Amino acid sequence: ATEKKVESLLSRMTLEEKIGQMNQITSYGNIEDMSSLIKKGEVGSILNEVDPVRINALQRVAMEESRLGIPLLIARDVIHGFKTIFPIPLGQAASFNPQIAKDGARVAAIEASSVGIRWTFAPMIDIARDPRWGRIAEGCGEDTYLTSVMGAAMVEGFQGDSLNSPTSIAACPKHFVGYGAAEGGRDYNSTFIPERRLRNVYLPPFEAATKAGAATFMTSFNDNDGIPSTGNAFILKDVLRGEWGFDGLVVTDWASASEMISHGFAADSKEVAMKSVNAGVDMEMVSYTFVKELPALIKEGKVKESTIDEAVRNILRVKYRLGLFDVPYVDEKQPSVMYDPSHLKVAKQAAVESAILLKNDKEVLPLQESLKTIAVVGPMANAPYEQLGTWIFDGEKAHTQTPLNAIKEIVGDKVQVIYEPGLAYSREKNPAGVAKAAAVAARADVILAFVGEEAILSGEAHCLADLNLQGDQSALITALAKTGKPVVTIVMAGRPLTIGQEVEESTAVLYSFHPGTMGGPALADLLWGKAVPSGKTPVTFPKMVGQIPVYYAHNNTGRPATRNEVLLDDIAVEAGQTSLGCTSFYMDAGFDPLFPFGYGLSYTTFKYSNVKLSSASLKKDDVLTVTFDLENTGKYKGTEVAQLYIQDKVGSVTRPVKELKRFTRVTLKPGEKKNVSFELPVSELAFWNIDMVKVVEPGDFGLWVATDSQSGEEVFFKVVD
Ligand code: IFM
Repeated sequence: ATEKKVESLLSRMTLEEKIGQMNQITSYGNIEDMSSLIKKGEVGSILNEVDPVRINALQRVAMEESRLGIPLLIARDVIHGFKTIFPIPLGQAASFNPQIAKDGARVAAIEASSVGIRWTFAPMIDIARDPRWGRIAEGCGEDTYLTSVMGAAMVEGFQGDSLNSPTSIAACPKHFVGYGAAEGGRDYNSTFIPERRLRNVYLPPFEAATKAGAATFMTSFNDNDGIPSTGNAFILKDVLRGEWGFDGLVVTDWASASEMISHGFAADSKEVAMKSVNAGVDMEMVSYTFVKELPALIKEGKVKESTIDEAVRNILRVKYRLGLFDVPYVDEKQPSVMYDPSHLKVAKQAAVESAILLKNDKEVLPLQESLKTIAVVGPMANAPYEQLGTWIFDGEKAHTQTPLNAIKEIVGDKVQVIYEPGLAYSREKNPAGVAKAAAVAARADVILAFVGEEAILSGEAHCLADLNLQGDQSALITALAKTGKPVVTIVMAGRPLTIGQEVEESTAVLYSFHPGTMGGPALADLLWGKAVPSGKTPVTFPKMVGQIPVYYAHNNTGRPATRNEVLLDDIAVEAGQTSLGCTSFYMDAGFDPLFPFGYGLSYTTFKYSNVKLSSASLKKDDVLTVTFDLENTGKYKGTEVAQLYIQDKVGSVTRPVKELKRFTRVTLKPGEKKNVSFELPVSELAFWNIDMVKVVEPGDFGLWVATDSQSGEEVFFKVVD
């Protein structure tokens, strides 16, 4: 039925009206100016309008005053929440819990749609293996499988049970594709991803998003091997539409069409429009070359009218699917859903599950009831805006619950809380402030140091060449450590930071990324043991920037480094690594990162045993069942993220040393033991091989069930023809 409606409407549209649908403008203050364009049928979508009264007014012009009454698609970057802000996506990924991602996206959709926003530019599912890149904060980290699972869950959350429901918003997986591989971690930079790597590493999350029903896609800013994504017919037509059967709409990134001129890929705006549309772009974000240039390009035969028709079909299809023709307006007077207690509850749970316990010496955490005095120190302890993180256009600091306030609430009058931030913000250099904070903190039984990055230090165009804590934060931790009191360091940041020294100096370290609106209560619960940490690193933490790129699923070299075999020199001894026989490793950093992918402690301990495979020899259409016992061997009820990795030992091309294939969260009481199982279809061992076809190649495989990507005992199986 939708297709019939699309065709019937399309048949009544003039060329100008069709091209108008392909144009997205950004909202500007003056509603009359926008209205005159809408009336002429020159606008298909508006981004960055959030006032329901204005949105209704603009929709009314489109519905009642334009010739064909086609509703507008109102878009906004609702990335990790609209008003109720969830942990940054990288933090959500640390939960290894797709339900958390789905619930967060659902809440965001409910809040955003209530003002008339029906399209978000999320999820960002760019694989990012370089934490210098500021946008690593917005994605799910370095791993293809984890990103695929979390990204698909976000799509489902945004779009709800049916796109047609007024509380659903269209998802827009971005940035298609390869943007996270920007050279040097510098935003917008070129990428050089060969097709096999593109298909094995960067494309699968987007394919998973398509399967989850994503309604739209956004092209990326980068050029890959010389071809800007906005002009890349191979990815937009051959892969997205041809191979995956996507029938939604493709929008450019902000001016990424006209930026093809700066890339040196198009000479002028005419060539921009021609190359984008012919490559498979349906809608242009803000650069206005389509409206200006397409009529002449069609006359000259450089763009076919059938190409325009196809683009407009894709756009109208999404508008029909969203039910916009039937319900274009929102209720301006409806009771507000913003910050609903149920939303805050989910946001708090997301923040709890996003926090990663990196160290816990002497079981300093959870904090004991017997403590009399606590020092709360550091620039992030009471920084309501900074803890929200990047891309929070609509989040309000007035609603943010900070750690300082939550700590005061949790301890009541039983414990004295001394607050001395030492530094006003994360980049501040203030030796006197540091000295004062250390002197004051020395009076406490335990010191809670909240450090990290202000929100502005990550996100789009906020890349860094140095990943150490900024300002005098390192000096602050050193000074606090010198007091001899236990120091619990809590890091709120948009990326993994090189915090080796701070980890050494601290008694415990809890890494929460930017935890969002409910970060304070979530962290207080974790510190006092009302909740137990369960997050795992969604990205490798480097020891130092020079190690980057450092990620677990790398291919092996012909000379892999080994650990603890022969001790050759002082550095190697210290690192527990050797370079015997000229192997692949840094003399000053070794090959181990600070923390591997998948790493995270709990207040309790877990024991893995009895790993069994349903068969040691499988055919290509078999399903491998892996079972194992997981036991809580500690004192607290806790949740473990059990992970399953495989290695394809020999392929027609070299394969990664490990690949995550499954994970699950298992909650156990002290002493409890569960038999857990994973089902892994052999078909999921397929990869793009030497002939550039996706196949499972028969041969030997290694398999680990483990607490992180560097642990576990290897077991073996075979795939036979
Ligand atoms: O959605 C974003 C994109 O991720 C970066 N450029 C701007 C777009 C719209 O705001």
